[in-house]
Parts: sequence; C-alpha cells; structure tokens
Amino acid sequence: MREDKPLFTPGPLTTSEGVKRAMLRDVGSRDSAFIDTIARIRTGLLELAGVSQADGWEAVLMQGSGTFGIEAVISSALPAEGALLVARNGAYGARIAAIAAVHGIEVVDVAGPENRPCDPAEIERALAASPHVTHVALVHCETTTGIFNPVAEVGAAARRHGARLILDSMSAFGSVELDLAACAVDFLVSSANKCIEGVPGFSFALARGDAIAESEGRARTFSLDLFAQWRGLERDGQFRFTPPTHAILAFEQALAELAAEGGVAGRGERYHRNRDRLVEGMRALGFREYLPDALQGHVITSFRYPEGDRFDFEEFYDRLNARGFVIYPGKVTDAECFRIGSIGRLFEADVDGLLAAIEAVLGEMELDLRATTEGVQ
Ligand SMILES: Cc1ncc(COP(=O)(O)O)c(C=O)c1O
Repeated sequence: MREDKPLFTPGPLTTSEGVKRAMLRDVGSRDSAFIDTIARIRTGLLELAGVSQADGWEAVLMQGSGTFGIEAVISSALPAEGALLVARNGAYGARIAAIAAVHGIEVVDVAGPENRPCDPAEIERALAASPHVTHVALVHCETTTGIFNPVAEVGAAARRHGARLILDSMSAFGSVELDLAACAVDFLVSSANKCIEGVPGFSFALARGDAIAESEGRARTFSLDLFAQWRGLERDGQFRFTPPTHAILAFEQALAELAAEGGVAGRGERYHRNRDRLVEGMRALGFREYLPDALQGHVITSFRYPEGDRFDFEEFYDRLNARGFVIYPGKVTDAECFRIGSIGRLFEADVDGLLAAIEAVLGEMELDLRATTEGVQ
C-alpha cells in the first residue's frame, strides 16, 4: 500500500520504494565511494543514450531542476556573438527563449501551433535567412501537450547550416530510443526525476566533448558554468559545490531499476500501456484529448475541458485530490485543458484507480459527459 498519492503529473513524479530508501544515508561529497557513484552514474547515462566517452561524449551533472540544466547549457554554450534559433510549439520552448533573453542572447524565434510538431522546413528556411545562428534549441517531448518533435529532421537542418543542436529531452529521455549521433544532437538535457524515476535535485547534460570544450570561457553565470562543472567532474570526480548527495544515491538505484525493467524499451512500453489505458478510459467517460491520435505521445496527455460552462477544473482537481489522486492543470494557450501524466512509478492498476475516481467525481459534480459527446471523435 502506497503512503502518498500517485502523481499523474509532469513532475515531481512518483518514485519507487527502493529509490526512496536509497536516500536514507548521509555521505560526504569527498568520500571515495560517493565519487565512484558519480562516475558510475555519468557512465550509465551515456550508456543509456547509446554513446560513450570513448566516442567523444560527456555527461555533466548539474544541481537544480531541469530548467537549471537548460539554463546551464544555453548560458554556457552560446558564444558572445552567438544567436539561438528556438523552435517552439509550447511553454517549454517559450521558456528556452525567455532564458536566452535574460542572458542577452539573440533569439531567432520559430513559433508554431501547439497542436502540430515543429516544422523542419520552416526551421531550415529560418536558418537560411539567419546565417549567424550558432545554435538551435528544440524540445523533444513538449510537455505542454505531450507532442513529440522531429529531432532527426531538425538536427539535420541545424547541421546543414553549421549550427549545434540543443535538445530539451526533459520529459522523454529514458523512455524513448534516440540515436544522438544520427540525430545530430550536440547537447541533450534531462533531469533526475523524469523518466529515469530518480528524485528531484539535479539535471544532466549529455554533450559532445568538442561542444563542451568550445564553451570554455563563455559562461554568463558562475554557478551554472557547464564547462567548469565538467572540468571539476573530470579533475576529481566531484561537483564544484555541495552535491545533492541523497538525490545522487537515489539516482543510482533508479538506474538499476530502469535496467531491471528492460531499459529504455521496457520503460517506454509501460508508459505506453499507461497512456493507452488512460485515453481509452477517459474517452469512455466522455473526455476528448487535445491532440489527434497520431500526435499523442506516451508521456502526458492534455484533455479538453468538457463542452459547456459547467466544468470547474478547481473543483474537479480538489475532489480527485481528496480521493487520493493528483493530476495537473493545462498549459495549452488556445484551448482549456488539463493534463494527466503517464510517467513515474505508475502502472495500469494506478490508471484504473484514477479512472474510477474520475468517474465518481463526475457523478458528484453531476456531469454526465457521455450524454454530450456521444459519437464525437
Ligand atoms: C520539456 C520540459 N522542459 C523543461 C522542464 C522544466 O523542468 P523543471 O521543472 O525540472 O525545471 C520541464 C518540466 O516538466 C519539461 O517538461
């Protein structure tokens, strides 16, 4: 029996008992066993991505949530005269542009609708029109809607124009296969508490060694200096500043549990099953997804508010919460939606529990959506 409510959100996410237990220790940051743990995690992350240090790839861990990792890469990788093309179709792409703006980095904004993947042809045209662009940023799974963007096509466009690709794979890495080299990714950023199912506390960048090397001296902040963090890790195996020791211990356990589940493929399958069960059940209750079937990813699903003005999301949320289930508000700008995640330590039985609670809450709110959406696709 789980003590806490299952989190059907984009994060923080539900973690396993084993991951939580791994944190019940106090270890020193200079302890050789802890330094070995960091080294194993760095190697393990590269292995998970199908690359290695021998092939010229590096893993850099950075304190803070995912946004800190994104900010570390953007503020460290772009040269003083660089420009960042941001391909965006949701809130997390917009956040990348906002981060660049804070650092005074020129942004070439390629904004598209939230219900369509970013368009590689449009990105290619923007790159041709702005030859001074040095880096392209793309969100792998735009968690605003759950849509997946075409990494390989955008990577190929960036490479043709001599720009480096920064991929925000926050909510996708660890649950979907991605060939970094073939997709021309230079920096991939993700965090501990997404598909790897560690606890929040640090993010990580997997990057080509030459891309890290060229960022020496470019950092616009002291603490988020990616090159300095990498150099510190290489020099003595340690973080530059107090590491999130408990989160690191939990992460090693999370990596072991990921391997036991069949690695990226096994984890992705469970998330797909969660998503399938969720969408089927929500449709049966009369809800409709924001994205068309073909574009719906396995990480998170945005559901439209039911038609009419009788649906009060706050009340719906609170009633579900009282029954022990946590869902998430929407982020889509042009439609009223809420979101339900399929990631974290959740299984189909948890989804069934959520669906039963939603059915009961709809009854309490005297909403019978099946009557209004009969036959709607
Ligand atoms: C695609 C994407 N990018 C960035 C972030 C920001 O991560 P954090 O909230 O850990 O800072 C998230 C969080 O869900 C995300 O889904």
